[in-house]
Amino acid sequence: MRSCICIKYILSLLLCSLLLFAQDDVGFRVLSPQTMGISDEGIASFVIEADSKKIDFLLITTDANKRYSIEVNGERTHYCKSVNLYMGVNSIKVAGYKNDVIIQEQTRELFFRSKVDKHLKYPPAGYSKKYFHNQESEKLCAKCHDMSVNEVSGVAFEDITKSNCYECHKSINQEKHSHAPSVNWLCTSCHNGEVGVLNQEDKDKTKYSVPDPIEEVCFLCHKKHKDEWGKKRFSHEPAESGRCSRCHNSHSSPSEFYLREPSWDLCTGCHKDKIDGVHVVKTFAREAHPTHNVKDPSREGKELSCISCHNPHVSNAPSLLQSETSMGLCSRCHKK
Ligand code: HEC
Ligand code: HEC
Ligand code: HEC
Ligand code: HEC
Ligand code: HEC
Ligand code: HEC
Ligand code: HEC
Ligand code: HEC
Repeated sequence: MRSCICIKYILSLLLCSLLLFAQDDVGFRVLSPQTMGISDEGIASFVIEADSKKIDFLLITTDANKRYSIEVNGERTHYCKSVNLYMGVNSIKVAGYKNDVIIQEQTRELFFRSKVDKHLKYPPAGYSKKYFHNQESEKLCAKCHDMSVNEVSGVAFEDITKSNCYECHKSINQEKHSHAPSVNWLCTSCHNGEVGVLNQEDKDKTKYSVPDPIEEVCFLCHKKHKDEWGKKRFSHEPAESGRCSRCHNSHSSPSEFYLREPSWDLCTGCHKDKIDGVHVVKTFAREAHPTHNVKDPSREGKELSCISCHNPHVSNAPSLLQSETSMGLCSRCHKK
């Protein structure tokens, strides 16, 4: 046994010195993100340590040929850039140039996973969730970034740029509809460092973990909903199980109510059979009752959607209908 450990020790020493030696020779190193990681929000922070003697220009290229260029001028040692990902597998290339000639290349493979679409929910083999906020990784950044939490619980920042999280995470709130606690940079109101029964494996991996299921955190502020919903007879599985962030982005989104997708796409993401299946009634003129692409007579200015007839969270009627009876439901829109 002893000699076995000893050999391992010598081998790892050898490996370390080889790695150190290799580093001497390169123009740049990608410190973040780690490759083969899984992203939930579609933003990857690239941090590249570059040697201006060997490289004068860095180019980050995504699959869709979106480019981010960085000039390496020797005033800094580290260059940082937030990059937007596409749903599914992303292969992002970093190239280092000197006098317009590529001298070094590195790739990062990242998987942006969907919360709803079955095909994009599970990454191919080899990907795993990689966390950043541990002492080890933060040390590399502390030279230039303040890594401490400076938010006062429940008090919105008057100037959000003063939040210590802002500089690195500003793009998390860039969409049109933003959730109050996120846009006020009260990040730790949800990122409380705890885990829930469904993400025990994240314990102590990052100081900013959120519990899964998340519902108790949401209900701290949305207490009225907790009380109202608790009284209903039926509830929708993903809401019942407390996984609010399947449907809502906690930060910001192009869709109202910070939905991950507009409601029809959201619902059909999990209920694929409702995309064109016969539903509600078989009408004379069509195969199925419409579920979108027409005006909703019951909600002014809105399009017909699944939520015209179904409550996304709870209901007293079976099938989560918006009315207690199915006749009552029809008469919301079909007046005789
Ligand atoms: C040498 C100083 C320095 C170091 C070290 C450094 N950064 Fe930065 N970083 C900056 C500066 C300055 C900015 C402001 C934007 C700019 O001028 O590029 C920044 C911006 C960022 C951004 C925002 C980029 C964008 O496109 O909005 C992220 C993310 C970031 N840093 C992450 C990190 C991480 C993670 C580390 C540690 C692994 C790190 N940085 C280490 C100086 C540094
Ligand atoms: C120096 C830059 C930097 C600062 C400052 C920073 N973060 Fe991060 N954070 C990152 C990077 C890099 C990641 C990895 C994900 C990515 O690529 O964007 C990350 C990931 C996270 C995650 C996902 C879990 C994890 O550990 O990977 C959370 C949550 C988070 N940050 C919250 C915060 C909060 C809250 C603050 C302010 C108190 C903060 N961050 C300050 C750079 C930073
Ligand atoms: C209302 C609750 C809530 C608030 C407020 C909130 N977050 Fe989050 N955040 C979450 C949840 C839940 C997740 C877990 C992943 C998911 O379900 O999308 C998450 C995930 C993240 C991630 C990881 C994304 C990834 O790709 O893995 C980062 C980074 C992050 N949050 C940063 C922040 C920052 C910075 C703030 C403050 C501006 C903030 N969050 C405010 C709930 C919140
Ligand atoms: C720190 C307090 C806080 C937490 C935690 C919180 N929210 Fe909110 N939320 C607010 C505030 C404040 C508003 C804006 C005022 C309002 O409309 O109720 C809001 C608004 C919303 C809205 C839009 C409501 C509307 O009628 O426009 C949704 C949806 C929402 N939150 C979902 C969530 C979800 C899901 C979670 C958990 C992941 C959560 N919230 C956690 C404070 C919070
Ligand atoms: C199956 C998807 C789904 C899940 C899961 C879900 N929501 Fe919603 N939520 C929606 C949709 C869709 C709307 C918009 C309804 C509308 O447009 O009338 C909404 C609206 C809301 C609103 C604002 C409107 C209102 O009813 O006051 C709040 C607050 C809210 N959700 C909180 C939550 C919380 C908290 C959870 C977790 C317990 C949760 N949601 C889980 C889909 C969902
Ligand atoms: C994250 C996946 C997911 C999303 C998104 C989702 N659902 Fe569901 N839904 C389920 C699951 C799981 C069930 C329970 C099992 C089943 O019937 O398929 C369910 C059941 C239902 C039921 C039957 C409930 C009953 O009591 O019979 C209705 C109606 C429904 N969903 C409507 C919707 C609507 C409307 C939306 C969009 C706001 C939506 N769903 C979005 C996963 C989802
Ligand atoms: C015009 C009203 C209406 C619209 C729009 C509508 N539904 Fe329904 N849905 C009903 C009624 C009524 C029932 C119960 C009777 C039945 O089973 O057909 C039902 C039942 C369901 C059920 C449970 C039974 C089953 O067939 O699986 C699911 C799931 C469901 N709907 C999902 C959706 C989704 C997803 C959408 C949007 C693509 C949608 N519905 C749009 C009225 C509607
Ligand atoms: C939220 C609104 C809404 C509800 C609730 C609703 N419908 Fe409809 N229905 C519509 C719309 C919109 C159309 C399409 C009208 C058009 O194309 O001009 C439609 C079309 C129809 C048609 C076809 C008529 C035609 O001209 O092709 C029938 C039949 C029908 N609905 C029956 C029902 C029944 C039965 C119920 C109750 C189970 C119901 N609807 C509930 C909005 C609704």
